[in-house]
Amino acid sequence: MQIIQIAIDGPAGSGKSTVAKIVAQNLRITYLDTGAMYRAVTYEALNNHIDLDDSTALRRLVDEIDLKITLESVNINGKDCTEAIRMPEVTQNVSYVAKDAYVRKKMVALQQKIAGDQSVVMDGRDIATHVLPKAPYKYFLVATPKERAKRRLLELEAKGIHITLEEMIAEIEARDKIDQERATAPLVQAKDAKLIDTTALTIDDVVQLILADVLKAG
Ligand code: C5P
Repeated sequence: MQIIQIAIDGPAGSGKSTVAKIVAQNLRITYLDTGAMYRAVTYEALNNHIDLDDSTALRRLVDEIDLKITLESVNINGKDCTEAIRMPEVTQNVSYVAKDAYVRKKMVALQQKIAGDQSVVMDGRDIATHVLPKAPYKYFLVATPKERAKRRLLELEAKGIHITLEEMIAEIEARDKIDQERATAPLVQAKDAKLIDTTALTIDDVVQLILADVLKAG
């Protein structure tokens, strides 16, 4: 059977994860949320009171961590952390951990192992540029900071967490800046990735655009 690799990158709140999951379901192939992996490492580091600038401690943590990520759950060292990795404290710190070159090396190796020789849809920041550079299907999703913040607010409000739109915009822009300016595998559109501005599109619009593109080529 032909192997399909689909890389979906973009900044926070651009709709990547939601879209990637539905595309994978439609094509009946594996979905991997790579952001969840960096969140899991961050959650574990915070839980163990590790200084996020201490690269030796982070190295030890990622060398020992037992991470199991499925479509429905995130399990860290035998503990279900599906909800915990989405908490604001993790979101506010994840970009500091994701800057660490050793953490990235370990996560990328895991991601490439999961992709192995099976079809996957992977979403993140560096999938098209570093994790699956040979993927035949690459998309870079963007939207205005205001639109992305509105989407995140809705997600948080559903969980009973309330912050203002201005605070959310500031948080998103701060995270994007660190992700774009880091030395290792920064957030950037791959030269061969197709740009999709999702600002005025529904989730289904974006899913259909990607599916049409993949199926047209296949
Ligand atoms: O996608 P999500 O917003 O959950 O990602 C959380 C953070 O993980 C990002 O802000 C980024 O710092 C990091 N990340 C990354 N590379 C990836 C996926 C996520 O650096 N491939």
